[in-house]
Amino acid sequence: MSRTTWRTHRCGALRAEHVGQWVRLGGWVHRRRDLGGIVFLDLRDRDGLVQVAFGPGWSPPDVLVAAGALGSETVVVVEGQIVVRPASARNPEMATGDVEVHATALVVVGPAETPPIPVARGKTDELPAEELRLKHRHLDLRRPELLANLILRHRLMQRARRTLSELEFLEVETPILTKPTPEGARDYLVPSRLHPGEFYALPQSPQIYKQLLMVAGFDRYFQIARCFRDEDLRYDRQPEFTQIDLEASFVGTEDVYGFVEAVLVALWDEAGHAIERPFPRITWREAMERYGTDKPDLRYEFPIADWTAQVQLLGVPFIEQALRDEARVRGIAVKGGGALSRKDVDQLAEAAKQVGGSGLAWAKRLGDHISGSVAKHFTAEGLGALGVGDGDAALMVVGPDRVTSPVLDRVRMEVIRRLAPAPTRAHAFAWVVDFPLFEPDHETGTPVFAHHPFTSPHPDDVVRLESDPFSCRALHYDAVYNGNELGSGSIRITDPAIQRKVFAHLGLAPGEIEARFGFLLAALQAGTPPHGGFAIGFDRVAMLLAGAGSLRDVIAFPKTTAARALFEGAPAPASPADIAALHIEVK
Ligand code: AMO
Repeated sequence: MSRTTWRTHRCGALRAEHVGQWVRLGGWVHRRRDLGGIVFLDLRDRDGLVQVAFGPGWSPPDVLVAAGALGSETVVVVEGQIVVRPASARNPEMATGDVEVHATALVVVGPAETPPIPVARGKTDELPAEELRLKHRHLDLRRPELLANLILRHRLMQRARRTLSELEFLEVETPILTKPTPEGARDYLVPSRLHPGEFYALPQSPQIYKQLLMVAGFDRYFQIARCFRDEDLRYDRQPEFTQIDLEASFVGTEDVYGFVEAVLVALWDEAGHAIERPFPRITWREAMERYGTDKPDLRYEFPIADWTAQVQLLGVPFIEQALRDEARVRGIAVKGGGALSRKDVDQLAEAAKQVGGSGLAWAKRLGDHISGSVAKHFTAEGLGALGVGDGDAALMVVGPDRVTSPVLDRVRMEVIRRLAPAPTRAHAFAWVVDFPLFEPDHETGTPVFAHHPFTSPHPDDVVRLESDPFSCRALHYDAVYNGNELGSGSIRITDPAIQRKVFAHLGLAPGEIEARFGFLLAALQAGTPPHGGFAIGFDRVAMLLAGAGSLRDVIAFPKTTAARALFEGAPAPASPADIAALHIEVK
């Protein structure tokens, strides 16, 4: 299969079974070693490395001389015979380590300048700075680790396609030049040359199109979809990213869970992990209560508890003060927390501050001895009543939930990092269900959608849509895995009247609703089946399954956290003529 007019085999594919065969290989000079008149090359291609030996016994003199002059990353074609290596020279760490090629011919087909970043590294060598690697991405992509990540990504993508296709989903492409799709980020806008003053938006997701495909009767749709969001970036966010996006008709939440679980089980299987379904479920409220986050890492215990009732009785002045304004005392009984040092606790308090906390009250119990910032208020029994046993610690904060939840989430994850308890399982998937339909805007307190405005209110709560919107739950669910949000979805609104009400709650005037979403509202009146769907963040899945630390390590040409493409240099200024043709001005 890998044979072409230039070569007979790939380098990394050679094994003992090829011994005696004559081969022609093409590849990159990974390393060169000159040992007593013999030149050894590690020749590299997509499949890996093979050792090529040039020696006076079998290589013509000019070939031996040329081999001795090869610089790293030069592309060569070599011919020779596969021989078995003497036992002492076998390399069990190389897949091709039982054999080598005795070269009889060598042609340099792609000379290379000295690479600005090394491709071949010793086991303990540090990687060059990421900025440098992104700038020379073509070289960094030669690194076997990065190549392996992208090969895994390819396999995952094929498996997703196959799985969904087998489940009767149709792959349909939707436009990239489109109208804004509200997913909570800013749009990337593209000025129109033909229509002065008008703009396309790049899709934040194919959300509206996939719903239109359901109206059209496609029944089940999927797409490996590119999405574009102008938002603040982090290790798990890129401005352009890929979703495994799906939508299905005549479905309820259970059907969607079934489809998504089937895809995730297949993807984890592709990476060699057997996972169980159905995934456990946790309501959004319970997740926030027990873990302080809507994407809890359920591999570990250390749940958050409400200690208001017990702690209120102790008469701790700062707690009494804080409890006056709708606050609660919430804390974590840390099993084995006695092992946390004073420095650890200071650093936990520092972490709490970074997410808006004002401090962390703590007490440690070792035998009858109690230490910590609130030690004098507690007896061993008092701590025992909170579930804090001998050798444990209590970490607590007081305040409104909007402050204590993120703080305790952060503290819990830091405690887990420091104490490194054994996880209860390696793969902790869960459905987080019953999200609220709206959240209060951080600054104004007005409703903003928790997922997107096409998400159906919970049928039991729809009556309160107008009177008490914040109490309405949504038919919105997330899939979480080991503390990561893998994807999100919902059952959609199909009643145009409810859709209008939701838009109105979000502060859109009737004219604006028509201008922005009139086409969708018209479609909903054309005979719409009940439908719902989901989008899996594909880059995140690839990152987690590759064991990579950032999305940049599973995307061939990623952007930096400042949304720059360093390799090709984007964004870049445009020529005045191009700008003028778009009828825009740069200030
Ligand atoms: P949502 O906005 O939650 O839902 O996106 C779904 C999943 O996409 C991934 N994701 C990202 N990955 C990398 N970089 C980003 N900037 C980024 N933003 C999101 C996450 C997320 O869980 N249309 C709805 C889905 C639906 O309702 O069917 C949507 O896009 O893993």
